[in-house]
Amino acid sequence: MKTLVLANQKGGVGKSAVATLLAHYFRKLGCRVLAIDLDHQGNFSDPLRKSQRVAVAEVPASALLTQANPVIPAADFVLVPADRDLSGLERQPSLHNDFANHLRGFLKAMDARFDVCLIDTNPNPDIRMIAALVSADFVLSPIQLNQEALDGVHALLNHPRVGVRKITSMLNPKLHLIGLLPVMVEANPFQRENFLQLVQKFHPILIPYGPKPGQYASMPRRSAVAEAQAEGLVLWEMKKTAARDAWREIEVAMVVIAKAVLDGVPTQTTPITPINGADHGPVAG
Ligand SMILES: Nc1ncnc2c1ncn2[C@@H]1O[C@H](COP(=O)(O)OP(=O)(O)OP(=O)(O)O)[C@@H](O)[C@H]1O
Ligand SMILES: [Mg+2]
Repeated sequence: MKTLVLANQKGGVGKSAVATLLAHYFRKLGCRVLAIDLDHQGNFSDPLRKSQRVAVAEVPASALLTQANPVIPAADFVLVPADRDLSGLERQPSLHNDFANHLRGFLKAMDARFDVCLIDTNPNPDIRMIAALVSADFVLSPIQLNQEALDGVHALLNHPRVGVRKITSMLNPKLHLIGLLPVMVEANPFQRENFLQLVQKFHPILIPYGPKPGQYASMPRRSAVAEAQAEGLVLWEMKKTAARDAWREIEVAMVVIAKAVLDGVPTQTTPITPINGADHGPVAG
């Protein structure tokens, strides 16, 4: 089983929407999918539940951190749903090591039962995010194309608790950053300028696709995505032409991310090096 965590300390950037699309996409590819929602807001749980395609575990997600050996249904698409207790875990620091160890033990126990585990996280850099990142194989960071988000890339890499560099060097050397995925991209001059800035500063951690250099995976802003998320629909099965058009645009990113996860092949071979004076050292070691 390969475990992919959706993480970005910025709220509302599309983590849950990307997690949901990926969950359905991995199913479309025939994978056995375990979906874990570590955000008490439940924006990964709700659309999956509404889709009626998942077996919903009786144990809530907080139990994966607080209990040893939680039991989940025997099915090929299982959701361990968000619950309120998730938000209280940070306030129990003496148990944080246990929380991380329980989640690690659970994921290990699921290794042969699923092909892919997707973990959606809350935007706070708390024990839930740490526990997920220390046990995961991959992390993917959706970001929006605004100045605040670009400034936030530094924290994503270097945050003292949950920065990808910190986690890979101290706690989980196998964690691989698939990359930054610009989402809700709009074709306006403002976003185009920010995209250029992103490429200039951070191209080693964008997600390349296709044979041409400079082609990086992204997702456009399309109302059909929000609608699918709200209604629990599968984007490519929606009747509207707009939804199918949106899927055609989004599929490119899904293909390259799924390939990185399933093949275990990094999309990036380049370490994160300083570009234009940006202060970013290698992610690993
Ligand atoms: N590509 C897209 N096009 C249009 N709307 C989108 C797109 N991606 C996400 N959205 C919508 O934007 C809103 C925020 O997305 P989402 O909930 O996935 O963000 P998030 O990063 O998980 O937020 P949080 O940090 O609160 O967990 C949702 O209403 C979602 O449906
Ligand atoms: Mg979310």
